[in-house]
Amino acid sequence: MKNIPVVMIIFGGSGDLAHRKLYPALFNLYEQGLIHDNFAVIGTARRPWSHEYLREQVGDAVHETHDQVNENDLKDFASHFYYQSHDVTNVEHYVTLKKLAQELDDRYCAHGNRLFYMAMAPRFFGTIATHINDQHLTGSGFNRIVVEKPFGHDLASAEELNKEITASFDEDDIFRIDHYLGKEMVQNIMPMRFSNPLIKNIWSSEYIKNIQVTLAERLGVEARGGYYDTSGALRDMVQNHIFQIITLLAMPEPKDIASTSIHQAKQDLLNSLIIPSPEDVKKDFVRGQYLGSDTTFAYKQEPNVDPNSMTETFVAGKVKFKKGPIAGVPIYFRTGKEFKEKKNRIDIVLKHINNPYGQAHSNNITIEIDPTSKIYITINGKKIDVPGIRREDLTYAFSKEEMAKVPDGYERLLHDVFVNDSTNFTHWSELKRYWEFIDAVEEAWQIENKSDNPNVVQYLPYRMGPKEANNIFESPTEHWIYE
Ligand code: BG6
Repeated sequence: MKNIPVVMIIFGGSGDLAHRKLYPALFNLYEQGLIHDNFAVIGTARRPWSHEYLREQVGDAVHETHDQVNENDLKDFASHFYYQSHDVTNVEHYVTLKKLAQELDDRYCAHGNRLFYMAMAPRFFGTIATHINDQHLTGSGFNRIVVEKPFGHDLASAEELNKEITASFDEDDIFRIDHYLGKEMVQNIMPMRFSNPLIKNIWSSEYIKNIQVTLAERLGVEARGGYYDTSGALRDMVQNHIFQIITLLAMPEPKDIASTSIHQAKQDLLNSLIIPSPEDVKKDFVRGQYLGSDTTFAYKQEPNVDPNSMTETFVAGKVKFKKGPIAGVPIYFRTGKEFKEKKNRIDIVLKHINNPYGQAHSNNITIEIDPTSKIYITINGKKIDVPGIRREDLTYAFSKEEMAKVPDGYERLLHDVFVNDSTNFTHWSELKRYWEFIDAVEEAWQIENKSDNPNVVQYLPYRMGPKEANNIFESPTEHWIYE
């Protein structure tokens, strides 16, 4: 679908996200004819930029992310961009913004369609939503809003923010973005599960022993210490990305692939999410902080981080559901900064069966999300020259040419917003459950922090996180597959 007339307003138009992700993604959509002549983008931020300067910035952003650029197309694309200096706390600025949006709507025949994008510090999301409402910034056509993460800091603040946003927007028009849902291999989970009898038929607690989700990062918090210290790995990665992946892995099959059916299937699953008690948290969760090396800072020494910080840069834990195809199966996860390498992967570990050959390997299904994209299944067979079982991988991979065609997550998700497809966005009912779980863990940690013995373990950089994460398994025959 193309040619959707719209005036898009980006709050945070001079920021990093807009520069690195949104402008290049919009350009790619433009190049494919997926957005066309009837669109205008207003970038807003406090800085006193001109339209011309914003257009230069858009050009730079595109050049930085593309090897080859058609300069005429870029010039035409950039001419759709306008800048409005805007202080989000100043009510009068919304009046000026509204006027500009209306002018551009007339000029570009945008039919009163508005798309608001919150690409700035999350503490302003509520203020912006409130003023969009009290200054009537919405247009006479469709009105959609894209909200970046984090959506709240806990359930109470998420509820508050949701109230502010729903004052002007219906749930169907709120696109809570999670860039992991735009990743190729995350989008591949459902087709893989539901289109292969081989996989679909073993997707049950009868055959699956456990599932392991690892989102490991090579780098530390870099320049984001200030934000990160108020968040931590649990809120930064688990509340959103890890939970989205787990939901896709554990949900029942939706009745069809309409967005509403998929969200319904997710909700059915999440209603049965087991919220951990403080005792469960003690037993099933590990939190850690990275130490320094010759060339890297320890977390506590990072700029803008409290030297006595208890914030975790690593967390491992366990999730279980009471219902769904893998009810009762432990889903272990871990995520952290300063691992030995960047690696996002999922390991589905199958149970052993008795067999006449003795020691066989478990069949594991591994889905690599980043930096490589592939699925492989470990298979047992016979050794050629000696008795015994040999293990091989059956691999589903992409060619280099295919990989080059994979769009960036933001490109995919922005397109979904334009065509009003909310399949790969977080519904409020899902988010609420994720926060209930996260709040339970955070509360248990807060209590522990006040005790004499808060257990934030320290771990060395360039490794696999703290060794204590090996102790969260339910049985001694379980261990991390990716080591
Ligand atoms: C973001 C987190 O949501 O995801 C970052 O805020 C993290 O801390 C990033 O580095 C990881 O995303 P990706 O796509 O690089 O795995």
